[in-house]
Amino acid sequence: MTQDFRIRLLIVDDEQTIRRLCITIGESLGFSCIEAESGDAALALLQEQPVHMVLTDMVMPRMSGIEFLEQVKRAHPRIEVAVMTGHGSVETAVQAMKLGAYDYISKPFAPLDELRLFLRRMADKVRLVEENLYLRERSETETSLHGIIGNSTGIQNVLRLISRLKDTRTPVLISGESGTGKELVARALHFRGTMASRPFVAVDCGSLVPTLIESELFGYEKGAFTGALRSKQGLLQSADTGTIFLDEVGELPLEMQAKLLRFLQEKEVRPVGSNQKVKVDVRIMAATNRDLDTEYQKGTFRKDLYFRLNVVTISLPPLRERRSDIPILAAFFLERLAPGRGVQVSGNAMKAMLAYDWPGNVRELENCLERAVALGDQRIIEVNDLPPSIARAEVHTQPLDAPEFSRTDLEDIERATIERVFSQVKGDKALAGKMLGISRATLYRKLKRYSIGGREDPTQSTTLQ
Ligand SMILES: Nc1ncnc2c1ncn2[C@@H]1O[C@H](COP(=O)(O)OP(=O)(O)OP(=O)(O)O)[C@@H](O)[C@H]1O
Ligand SMILES: [Mg+2]
Repeated sequence: MTQDFRIRLLIVDDEQTIRRLCITIGESLGFSCIEAESGDAALALLQEQPVHMVLTDMVMPRMSGIEFLEQVKRAHPRIEVAVMTGHGSVETAVQAMKLGAYDYISKPFAPLDELRLFLRRMADKVRLVEENLYLRERSETETSLHGIIGNSTGIQNVLRLISRLKDTRTPVLISGESGTGKELVARALHFRGTMASRPFVAVDCGSLVPTLIESELFGYEKGAFTGALRSKQGLLQSADTGTIFLDEVGELPLEMQAKLLRFLQEKEVRPVGSNQKVKVDVRIMAATNRDLDTEYQKGTFRKDLYFRLNVVTISLPPLRERRSDIPILAAFFLERLAPGRGVQVSGNAMKAMLAYDWPGNVRELENCLERAVALGDQRIIEVNDLPPSIARAEVHTQPLDAPEFSRTDLEDIERATIERVFSQVKGDKALAGKMLGISRATLYRKLKRYSIGGREDPTQSTTLQ
């Protein structure tokens, strides 16, 4: 986006002659123009194509111009919308301005130059705003965005996607191994955007007991089930107008997947035990460390839900595929852990850290440094301040392009590691999680997945964020 980027204009009118006329004028001003003959067709187009400004008629069949304007402003607050009003409809013009329209112009356009001038001024405003946003985004990407550190191409691409998506309502699926920063990215997407003051509700689908998920998400009425002493609003409703972040969405049981899909289609929730539906408008972000692409082919994840969630995917590369980020991540964490103390990593310790594979990714790196800072008393972190598995990595330093393990290899290694640690700590889950550098929720999931540790712990299953 530079000084001379091309304005994209969408014209909405049920009369073809008006659309043609506006397109001719728009194109003469160098815009790229698209058209729609109704509000709903225009909304569908806006889902697919980036548009800077919209010129819409007010009186159209099915959806009125006002209704259309409202929906555009809600879903795409950055798009400027101007309205065309017929003779004597001052009230609609005023109403439109109140709803955030850029300006209005009366039809028929007596001298065509008036329309030309109108569109040119509007484009000037759009350019000005876009330029500013561009500059702001660039400086955000150059420093760091919501504490997301990394110079690797992988992370820079992620930052660019965040800048592009933060002010939209597009569903985003964030995929990546445990500890790669999925939640961090979801929060950045929400809190860095223009809708940051709206609610952000995170739900860990993996740590909820299946029977509770529905009532947590959709809410319930008093008396809906034993123990429902009063009505409770669901999390979807709490997130209304904002974002719901479905963490570990791959863990949702199939039955709940169907209910979630229905919600995404109808945008309505019906609390358990109620026969009233409530309209809810939320932006969906979902995270998964599973490969949903193969899960839906196996039938364990609904294909239709997958496609709804996966409008845009942000994939976070594992740390071992962006080792060049390790030094700046380390510096960042050390400054955060011991502000102003100037703690550094010795050359050999850094060599070991660069060679190590970091199965727990950034979280494991963070935990490893936390431990080193707590144990070591000097300003330099040496190899022997690192956990043995990492310290050893230096000895048989592997070339960075060592052959990749297959997924099953990795799963076997993961299972074996967890089993070993789990028996070492005699089943103490909190300690095992710490040693493995993974969250409690992740540990529970993995134990379940690999059937390690026998019985479920019933007190652990209802934690919500
Ligand atoms: N690029 C990064 N820059 C700075 N900190 C990061 C980065 N990536 C991850 N972190 C930190 O690492 C920790 C783990 O990140 P996060 O919880 O977002 O991972 P996750 O992918 O959601 O993991 P899980 O699958 O286990 O839930 C957090 O403390 C986060 O702040
Ligand atoms: Mg997470």
